[in-house]
Amino acid sequence: MTRIHVARGSGRGQGDVVQLPDPIQEPDFQGETRLRHSNRSRDIEPPTPAFVIDVPVLEEFVSRFQQALDVHWPNSILSYSFKTNSLPWLVSFMRNSGVWAEVVSDTEYELALALGYAPDRIVYNGPIKSRERLRFALQNGSIINLDSKREVTWTAELARELPGKELAVGLRVNWDLESLCPGESTTGDEASRFGFNADNGELDQVIAELTSAGVRIAGLHMHRNSYSQSLGVYRAAASVAADLITSRDLDLEWIDIGGGFFGSDTGPVTFDDYIAVIRKTLEPVVDPRRTRLIVEPGGSLIAVPVEFHASVIDVKEVGPHTFVVTDASRTNIDPLFRRQRRFETRLDTEATEYRREQIISGFTCMEDDRLTRLHDAPALKTNDRIVFYKVGGYTMCYQSLFIEYLPAVYVRDRTSLTQVRRKWGIDEYLQGNRWYEKDELVDPAAPESPATCRETSNFRSEVLSV
Ligand SMILES: Cc1ncc(COP(=O)(O)O)c(C=O)c1O
Repeated sequence: MTRIHVARGSGRGQGDVVQLPDPIQEPDFQGETRLRHSNRSRDIEPPTPAFVIDVPVLEEFVSRFQQALDVHWPNSILSYSFKTNSLPWLVSFMRNSGVWAEVVSDTEYELALALGYAPDRIVYNGPIKSRERLRFALQNGSIINLDSKREVTWTAELARELPGKELAVGLRVNWDLESLCPGESTTGDEASRFGFNADNGELDQVIAELTSAGVRIAGLHMHRNSYSQSLGVYRAAASVAADLITSRDLDLEWIDIGGGFFGSDTGPVTFDDYIAVIRKTLEPVVDPRRTRLIVEPGGSLIAVPVEFHASVIDVKEVGPHTFVVTDASRTNIDPLFRRQRRFETRLDTEATEYRREQIISGFTCMEDDRLTRLHDAPALKTNDRIVFYKVGGYTMCYQSLFIEYLPAVYVRDRTSLTQVRRKWGIDEYLQGNRWYEKDELVDPAAPESPATCRETSNFRSEVLSV
């Protein structure tokens, strides 16, 4: 079996990885090349379709970020953005690696607790916190960045109820990245909807409301997404924070610079470069020994270490076109159908003949379920394997339940391949549901009695009567 590694890459130093000729070696995202992958267990491959997480690569990314912080801002918190990929195994891996949880909903907060995070290892962000969960987090040592006005009201209310308790919060700042880094923000001129705007007085109103209730302003949260992921974006975030600290005379426990970093081995910027720029910009206004830097990387930690494995189930010639039908779907690796740049792929095939173009397609009934196109590549056959690389960010968390349910997930260590999520089947799909058996609505959690007259652990007292 020959392994063909398509798209740019420096190869993996393996004799059986064949680099294809130049025409198909298109530059990958920002000229990125791959990290060296562990390959001692490379010959153990999972049944398809499946995600595979390369543990040594993941370890390397986490430790690089941690080292960058240790060097440039030792008094810091590395938190992992759950929304990017909250696979339970991954969350527990992060917890064991000493990485905090960054969550943006009650559900994510509860997931962190369920997977063994203590409340004081959780950074709680986002505008959708409930009053109850916010009150819990405020009293149990979580780091909280408020992002909506109702949260301000609820926090002030709790402070008045508990005058003896010192409450401290951070505030998400709504700032104009586009004017500081033209063309780099994901919002363009439309502005961001997150946080409290510093220019129209809203931030100052919120500070006044909280401080008059006895709440301490302990942090600023500066997260912004950008297309560029440039150092300039982080310099801008840090300089806006620095201006606010000076102009509002803030004495902060933390500055949360957010996520959005570029994560690569040999890319244009490294984690080290980012933290060095942030430190240089903030140093004049804060003492890094007293004020903690919080970072919330997501994609930059988990995108590269994850692969998706698919198999060819059929090849169809239709006029001049070749459709390679797989047991995967574009929803697995590009769930929002937005991706422009090519996937880095590996083909495991014995084919010797090459084909000008092959349209790699999904199994679903959507005609646009097409994963990628191969040019001048080996003519794939049934049972050949296609591996898509660097697909760990914003993929598993957006999986579709269209036709097939969630695929299995494996983790590959130096010597083993372990399944950490089984493929979802009917059992997983049916959980939490009720349905008719004959004429009766049944609750499979307690099938002995009809659902309509009971309160079960799974369902609140229902039959919402009219
Ligand atoms: C508040 C916040 N923090 C962290 C992240 C993680 O971003 P990324 O995956 O780009 O690192 C996001 C993603 O949008 C976010 O909204």
